[in-house]
Amino acid sequence: MSTIEKALEKLRQSSGQLAGKVAAAPAKAVGAPVVMPDPSGNSVSAQHSAETAPSSSAAKNSHRMVLDLLRLEKMGFLTPESGRSQLAEEMRHIKRPLLLNAFGDHVDFGSNNLNLIMVTSSRPGEGKTYTSLNLAMSIAKERDKTVLLVDADVAKPGVTRVLNMESAKGLVDYLLDDTLSIPDVMMRTNVPNLRFIPAGKRHIHSTELLTSENMKQLTEELATRYPDRVVIFDSPPLLATSEASVVAELVGQIVMVVEAEQTSSDEVREALSLIAENKILGLILNKARGSFGTDYYGYYGKYGE
Ligand SMILES: Nc1ncnc2c1ncn2[C@@H]1O[C@H](COP(=O)(O)OP(=O)(O)OP(=O)(O)O)[C@@H](O)[C@H]1O
Ligand SMILES: [Mg+2]
Repeated sequence: MSTIEKALEKLRQSSGQLAGKVAAAPAKAVGAPVVMPDPSGNSVSAQHSAETAPSSSAAKNSHRMVLDLLRLEKMGFLTPESGRSQLAEEMRHIKRPLLLNAFGDHVDFGSNNLNLIMVTSSRPGEGKTYTSLNLAMSIAKERDKTVLLVDADVAKPGVTRVLNMESAKGLVDYLLDDTLSIPDVMMRTNVPNLRFIPAGKRHIHSTELLTSENMKQLTEELATRYPDRVVIFDSPPLLATSEASVVAELVGQIVMVVEAEQTSSDEVREALSLIAENKILGLILNKARGSFGTDYYGYYGKYGE
């Protein structure tokens, strides 16, 4: 049994409702899955806000945004003030192997750009944005790391909406305009280790821009320029647009969110077939419900094993 088949089998065992829906998938480098329950059963409200405030002391072309952390917390997202919680614990389990893969010097995975992490899924609505933002918040808590969250789901910019940054310059602007540099679109935030690149302006061919030479150069620069930085790309779903698999080519690690009780084996298999063999892949079973043992903390196994 390939590693990915084992991971999918674990997913299957972790969710009764998923049983029979997820079957064997192509062999790839893969981590064991993490299962994230939907503890409340409620969707997070879409009402978020953030103020933007240009920092007078900031260097030319750099920007600063102030996240409304209280509101984000009320909406169910992790913030630096979040105490110990099931969500914080789950994110710790997801980030540990990602950070180890990115910065550990002991393993050669045959994959480049290991500090670049794509968060994707098979279909829309499986929890990519929820995972991306929470993962970024969790990594921002690490003392010696910075994290850059990039809203690369340019056609459906979830993080940009949640952070209320729809009018800000971002990825699309950068990809279209050769005169812009990374600091022109990258924002500092009031979370000390967290930077953000919004999706930018709406553009009819926004998703196609993800396959441009400029995107390739951007990822290369992000991968090499800041060696202690993790970059998380909230990305389009693999089956919804062919450009997503091009983004998958540019990163070293891929977190694939699988929505419990909704995603069929065919969809997961098809999505996985679009990811190259040398990528490090982790699966997250999201919005899992059902009866687990009393020692269940919302994850299953160790991601990246
Ligand atoms: N584990 C979870 N617990 C609670 N709510 C969740 C969880 N995961 C996702 N949600 C909620 O489910 C909805 C869809 O999630 P999200 O927006 O993250 O999905 P997505 O994959 O980014 O969707 P899209 O493809 O539209 O960008 C949101 O309202 C989100 O807040
Ligand atoms: Mg989204």
